[in-house]
Amino acid sequence: MSTLEIRDLHVAVEDKQILRGVDLTVRAGETHAIMGPNGSGKSTLAYAIAGHPKYTITGGSVLLDGEDLLEMSVDERARAGLFLAMQYPVEVPGISVSNFLRSAVTSVRGEAPKLREFAKDLKAGMDALSIDPAFAQRNLNEGFSGGEKKRHEILQLELLKPKIAVLDETDSGLDVDALRVVSEGINRFRGTGDTGVLLITHYTRILRYVKPDFVHVFAGGRIVEEGGPELAEKLEAEGYAAYTKDAA
Ligand SMILES: Nc1ncnc2c1ncn2[C@@H]1O[C@H](COP(=O)(O)OP(=O)(O)OP(=O)(O)O)[C@@H](O)[C@H]1O
Ligand SMILES: [Mg+2]
Repeated sequence: MSTLEIRDLHVAVEDKQILRGVDLTVRAGETHAIMGPNGSGKSTLAYAIAGHPKYTITGGSVLLDGEDLLEMSVDERARAGLFLAMQYPVEVPGISVSNFLRSAVTSVRGEAPKLREFAKDLKAGMDALSIDPAFAQRNLNEGFSGGEKKRHEILQLELLKPKIAVLDETDSGLDVDALRVVSEGINRFRGTGDTGVLLITHYTRILRYVKPDFVHVFAGGRIVEEGGPELAEKLEAEGYAAYTKDAA
């Protein structure tokens, strides 16, 4: 059973301090929602955990199963079982979805999956997410609609089977049907109990489908309140005003 332990994490971007002491523990089988206003540092937390070079760790620690994640390269983090779905994924012309996914699986497992086995897993994953088969041959993220990007993220989850998945704004830009398909994908995936999920979102909409065990409110680069699913309902009703006043 895996555990991600974030302790007193401080992160700066270009000399600007963004995260100011984040403490969070995510265990396999748990789903944590991080909510909070624009610019409160939610994506910064995701990027810092994933090892994005722009984000400088200025204090604290991040351990995955006791191993120091911050000492690992981005590849090593993926191999250790960490997955990040970005709010704004990059377009990569010349690399097809299918090639990208096979390389990703190869890099995470440390060996290439057999072609036939991979093709079978890919097809099953795409069917489950109602993705058109032609999608596999498209260039990575190029011209993907919002919904296609998000389905592609969940497809990656199903194929890579990470220990800890960080999903940043997976619900943004989804219509009701796509939201349901994506939520079902996340639920299928977390239903195994082997994976911890950190779900970053503005809205409670997705939390109706993907019930979090814990809700954390971010403001001014730290967690300012924590609770169960009922906290998300309260935020929906009252907004973030109470927290942003404190943080400013
Ligand atoms: N690469 C960067 N360069 C400059 N500033 C950055 C960078 N990344 C983040 N910031 C700044 O850090 C602060 C927090 O940004 P972050 O993206 O973490 O917020 P967020 O909570 O994810 O917001 P949103 O809800 O809008 O996605 C913002 O003031 C942002 O401008
Ligand atoms: Mg963000």
